Amino acid sequence: MTERLAADSAGIDRAAALLCAGALVAFGTETVYGLGADATDDRAVAALFAAKGRPRFNPLICHYADAEAAWRDVVPDERARRVAATFWPGPLTLVLPRRAGSGVSLLAGAGLDTLAVRVPAHPAARALLRVVARPVAAPSANRSGGVSPTSAAHVLAELGGRIAAVLDCGPCRVGVESTVLDLSAAPPVLLRPGGITAEALAALLGPLATAPAGDCVAPRGPGLLASHYAPSLPVRLEAATVAEDEALLAFGPALPGAGTVFNLSEAEDLAEAAARLFAGLRTLDAEGVWRGLRRIAAMPVPAHGLGAAINDRLRRAAAPRGPG
Ligand code: TXA
Ligand code: MG
Repeated sequence: MTERLAADSAGIDRAAALLCAGALVAFGTETVYGLGADATDDRAVAALFAAKGRPRFNPLICHYADAEAAWRDVVPDERARRVAATFWPGPLTLVLPRRAGSGVSLLAGAGLDTLAVRVPAHPAARALLRVVARPVAAPSANRSGGVSPTSAAHVLAELGGRIAAVLDCGPCRVGVESTVLDLSAAPPVLLRPGGITAEALAALLGPLATAPAGDCVAPRGPGLLASHYAPSLPVRLEAATVAEDEALLAFGPALPGAGTVFNLSEAEDLAEAAARLFAGLRTLDAEGVWRGLRRIAAMPVPAHGLGAAINDRLRRAAAPRGPG
């Protein structure tokens, strides 16, 4: 049985004790729910990969209560300190050279000489990380390839019975994952668009390089597989019309004629749309399957600001599915 813990001090203490004992605990952040394991415990990290059914080559993000704690495992340069001072705590992950002597499990870092670190903003997540007082490896708390969870109920639907507990931190405010920025080499590289916009980062760092779109961007961003965030129904992008056998993921005024509609934001607000994206995919998937529909048609979303992260996730949801 998976314990459902309230995000009060008793729940946080229980979640921390489980993590420190090597158990898997999902917790909410401002982006999505993460499936946490003590990042210094190889066995806990191995159990995490098993619970997710995740390919082994995909390295994990380590979460910390504050930047000082993160700097114990990676070597920040001036750029890293500057972006951290501006955007932490918050939806930004930094890839930096791993510090010699870091206790983070090599399995968690997939054997790379870099490590991805992040200080989340959600108060309950930060409280948990403070009590645990060690790095917590946490990929999104879904089965590998599936849609990221933005509520405790989503986590239980995916991983109930397979993990020790979920700390119920309420619905996620941002709704798409953190931006992943690689600062391990000279030009900063945007590996994954996310909750902090590329525009905001470029204002601080100058122009960013971007990871090649589409397929796996190994070696710099291993695990960024093309097909990801996939609901069970196929997804059609840039829909200008909707067919009878399609459920509609709308943005702005919904296309006429759809029976099953989830509107990301009637007011065309990108922050609202990001926060509702994964719940929308889940809802349409479940209703669509139940009603015998064949596909999800997604209306276009503008590419600027948080729209970059939304479009990235939609493209991955629509990408041809690889084996496994
Ligand atoms: O918002 C988030 O980032 C959520 C919450 C739970 O914090 N976590 C999350 O983790 O999305 P995950 O494991 O689903 O995605 C981590 C991404 C992967 O695409 C992985 O390839 C990349 O970060 N990554 C991790 N370590 C890396 C490294 N050393 N070099 C390049 N990319 C790395
Ligand atoms: Mg994920």
